[in-house]
Amino acid sequence: MSFNFSNKINKVPPYLFAKIDAKKKEIVASGKRVFDFGVGDPDLPTWDIVIEKLKEYSSNIQYHQYPSYMGDIVFRETIAEYIKKRFNVNVLPEKNIIVLIGSKEGIAHFPFAFVNQGDIVFSPDPAYPVYRDGTYFAGGDIIKMPLLEKNNFLPDVEYFLKKHNPKIVWVNYPNNPIGVTAPDDFYKNLIELAHKYKFIIASDAAYIEIYENEKPRSIFEFDGAMDVAIEFHSFSKMFDMTGWRVGFAVGNETLIEGLGKIKKSIDSGSPTAIQMATKYGLENFISEMDNDNGFMQDMRRIYANRRKKIGSILDKFNIEPTPSHSTFYIWGKMLDGLNSEEKVAELIEKYQILLSPGTGFGESGEGYVRFSLTISDKDIDDLIQIIK
Ligand SMILES: Cc1ncc(COP(=O)(O)O)c(C=O)c1O
Repeated sequence: MSFNFSNKINKVPPYLFAKIDAKKKEIVASGKRVFDFGVGDPDLPTWDIVIEKLKEYSSNIQYHQYPSYMGDIVFRETIAEYIKKRFNVNVLPEKNIIVLIGSKEGIAHFPFAFVNQGDIVFSPDPAYPVYRDGTYFAGGDIIKMPLLEKNNFLPDVEYFLKKHNPKIVWVNYPNNPIGVTAPDDFYKNLIELAHKYKFIIASDAAYIEIYENEKPRSIFEFDGAMDVAIEFHSFSKMFDMTGWRVGFAVGNETLIEGLGKIKKSIDSGSPTAIQMATKYGLENFISEMDNDNGFMQDMRRIYANRRKKIGSILDKFNIEPTPSHSTFYIWGKMLDGLNSEEKVAELIEKYQILLSPGTGFGESGEGYVRFSLTISDKDIDDLIQIIK
């Protein structure tokens, strides 16, 4: 018997990283070495103190039962402390915070709580594909807001508001795939528009702790945001724990409550041992936040160093890096007229370098490729030798 996927599933193009992964397997099978700048998955191990606590907590029988679906309250209290210390924003752990099974889970589920059939959602383009996919699964439609160099990679939200009445507007700074941050005026203006036109701002801040010098800001540092916004955070990139699946959302009480209602019906939360081990990491992070040394400071230096090294050879590929000091991505513009897919094919062919084509993140990514700096320093050094 054959079965047809639902129209909603058919609307979603193949997941970009599944294609990249298939290409990698093909090269490895042919016996060649791959320089994998494709998927943004840290090569560095999870913070060792988190792993130690995970070992200890996994044998605590108290943590073997169903987790709390909003997240363990003591973990949410520590998250509230982090929000206060890092952004100087007061939030209530019981009302303004929900723990997620990685921020992807929350991003995908959030539209189910607020989007009705046919509702419009604005997404940046290029963008993390889950804003689109979650919207489609909830029955909504996507309007893409191009992120262009001439606009400093900021969406012209006002332009699209003249034509559409969105339920949700997604923004993502520090941005994947471009690596840029948003200036204060962008957030202030967006919050004003959200009040005026009555839409929800969903801000994806998964990379807010991955920066070189200037700390990226939370939307909640700006007046009026708590009335209209929800912000998604991830421990995946902070503590190198993509495999453990834990993140959180913070924001307006009703928006958090809505997401909680969906999660209550769909999942049972991130495992408590993982939440509590992450809490231990977060407490340590809070206490070393102002120091020059520490787990995250070391990680930021590693990425900064890799950015510099890779940046120094890009002209050999006829690629110009977009200036950036946050995330672990380089958004490279092609200078030789090749399109994204052609450049990816060329670099696989010549050097077995695996990249993400800009168009994998949306049509406005044409003319660009994305390098993820989650590749070992040894690989980077060897590649530089080969190129030279
Ligand atoms: C922009 C962006 N948001 C969210 C996520 C999801 O991260 P996680 O689910 O691991 O927290 C990713 C992962 O790559 C991302 O790039």
